[in-house]
Amino acid sequence: MNPTINLMKAHRSIRKFTDRKVDEQILETIFAAAQCAATSHFVQAYTVIRVRNVATRQTLAALTGAQAWVARAPVFMVFCADLNRLEAVCCLHATVMEKGWAEQFVTATVDVALLAQNVLIAAESLGMGGVYIGGIRNDPQTVCDLLEIPDQVYPVFGMCLGWPAHDPPPKPRLPVDAVLYTDRYPQRFDTDVLAAYDRTTNHYFMNRNNNLKDETWTRQMAEFMGRVIRPHMKAFLQKKGFFIK
Ligand SMILES: Cc1cc2nc3c(=O)[nH]c(=O)nc-3n(C[C@H](O)[C@H](O)[C@H](O)COP(=O)(O)O)c2cc1C
Repeated sequence: MNPTINLMKAHRSIRKFTDRKVDEQILETIFAAAQCAATSHFVQAYTVIRVRNVATRQTLAALTGAQAWVARAPVFMVFCADLNRLEAVCCLHATVMEKGWAEQFVTATVDVALLAQNVLIAAESLGMGGVYIGGIRNDPQTVCDLLEIPDQVYPVFGMCLGWPAHDPPPKPRLPVDAVLYTDRYPQRFDTDVLAAYDRTTNHYFMNRNNNLKDETWTRQMAEFMGRVIRPHMKAFLQKKGFFIK
């Protein structure tokens, strides 16, 4: 196809890293490129905190559910949706910022996700690899305490980055025609397509290079979506000043 599309199709999360350091220049290059992501209304409603303190890293690794790569990755960052900077900007112009709107929550959360995906793609284009860490939302208040994250800012996910020390195969995604429709939402889902995808994912789970299991995507999702995950999030977000109205 072309190098960008080939790179995107080669994505796989990396959880084991070599000891090679990521120099500051590379990180800066990655961020300068990543910040060119589109941003809703030009708000740039994000802040990223790189965590270098060893003890903090260990605490974060533990609260993510003992994800060793959070402690070991050459770079670990916490990506925050940030309305606090915008409030300071309003103060510069003697304006009172509207707060607590669900729309602002969506805007800031989308903004930081777009930035993060650009970070990962830029890093992958340089031969690095990484993985998102939603596990920081297991205990987001402790993350805020450790990193001194104020109100109007919340940690959305973390990300490990470094030079890959393993080479897992890419995980097959749903076929394009199961996610891309024309003119209207599908009136029913094609169960044949899902069955075919289950065969594809079962083959992937049975043949990848570790953690082999007789699993399918629909079974995995039915189990996952039948559980309550992080029920503290609503109260946490409201406490931080998000998602109240
Ligand atoms: C927002 C987000 C949070 C994630 N959280 C974790 C995590 O806490 N730990 C982890 O090992 N992987 C995490 N992942 C990685 C996903 O499990 C992974 O992207 C997915 O299984 C697809 O695999 P792939 O990235 O190798 O294609 C997360 C991914 C996203 C987008």
